[in-house]
Amino acid sequence: MSGTSLDGIDAALVAFSKTGTELISKFFLPFDDTLKLTILDLHQPSHNELHKTQLTGNQLARQYAIAVDSLLKQVSYLPGQIQAIGCHGQTIRHCPEHGYTLQIGNAALLAELTGITVVNDFRSRDIAAGGQGAPLVPAFHDKILRHPDIHRVIVNIGGISNLTNLPPGNATSGFDCGPGNLLMDAWCMEHLGLPFDADGAWAATGNVLPKLLDRLLAEPFFALPPPKSSGRDLFNMAWLQSHLHGEELPEDVQATLLALTCTTIAEAIIAQCRGAREIYLCGGGAHNSALRRMLAGKLPECSVQATDVLGVDGDYLEAIAFAWLAQQNRLNLPANLPRVTGAAHPCILGATYSA
Ligand SMILES: Nc1ncnc2c1ncn2[C@@H]1O[C@H](COP(=O)(O)OP(=O)(O)O)[C@@H](O)[C@H]1O
Ligand SMILES: [Mg+2]
Repeated sequence: MSGTSLDGIDAALVAFSKTGTELISKFFLPFDDTLKLTILDLHQPSHNELHKTQLTGNQLARQYAIAVDSLLKQVSYLPGQIQAIGCHGQTIRHCPEHGYTLQIGNAALLAELTGITVVNDFRSRDIAAGGQGAPLVPAFHDKILRHPDIHRVIVNIGGISNLTNLPPGNATSGFDCGPGNLLMDAWCMEHLGLPFDADGAWAATGNVLPKLLDRLLAEPFFALPPPKSSGRDLFNMAWLQSHLHGEELPEDVQATLLALTCTTIAEAIIAQCRGAREIYLCGGGAHNSALRRMLAGKLPECSVQATDVLGVDGDYLEAIAFAWLAQQNRLNLPANLPRVTGAAHPCILGATYSA
């Protein structure tokens, strides 16, 4: 898994059995700054972008192969013992409204380099069936994190935040809430030269600007009913700049961006997950203690904890979910939840390059 934060690659070696899901090994391979900037550039139209996209896809495949190799070596597994790699790829465009989404990463080359069957392109079939192609993780959350009596909500705070609503006795729902870390990360990089604001420490030195927060919250995406999904296509520095007057203190903007992430998640829970009692966070944003505190403050009727307390490693949950999605593909089983994505019907997700 490599997500919109562009921090790097989360690799998970997972065994599925009737009794459960076992995380055997995990490995994180950070992107170097050049690769991160190259991927960021590909989100915008540019000269000769097709060629650059393909070359970056090849580069990503080599990085994914290194991550897989390290993952297996850690536990002395051989490629022949692995059924399949579920490779999300790196999203550079997500445009369900135009009928496509694009994750790059040359899965053919990854199969060639690893000698392991690769399942990729998980989102396109759902979009072909009229869906958003995202989020896909709610189906897996539904499998492993449901409680029969307690209303839980799982919130994944990656570059974009998304939630899974697990009401007892009712169908699972889920959608993208809006920006998770990506605006905070971008603003922090621009002003401090750091990839992220650890624990919201910089944001804590500023004040939330209520008028700016209102302007950001007026973005129509937030009021849209689900199904809905988003990405850097909408939430990017140009979007943020278009709402700034220019005289704001950088730390005040950072505080406001943190408030934006928390407010949009809390409002999504209040509007769409009525009666929720337990909130479980995963993704990198779950490490942000200021974010956790602010979110808990906005949801006084809920407990707010990390999925780790349920025995599920929140840093690898999405990677584990993509292993499960690959398994569903290999078993010819559908994996989308039409109620979540808006697709017309359940679909078998992913395309395969055999070992
Ligand atoms: N201690 C922390 N404080 C604040 N943010 C953090 C912390 N640790 C990780 N993050 C955030 O988590 C992000 C990575 O989250 P991740 O779940 O990998 O997102 P994605 O799936 O989009 O790649 C980082 O870019 C950073 O913004
Ligand atoms: Mg990541």
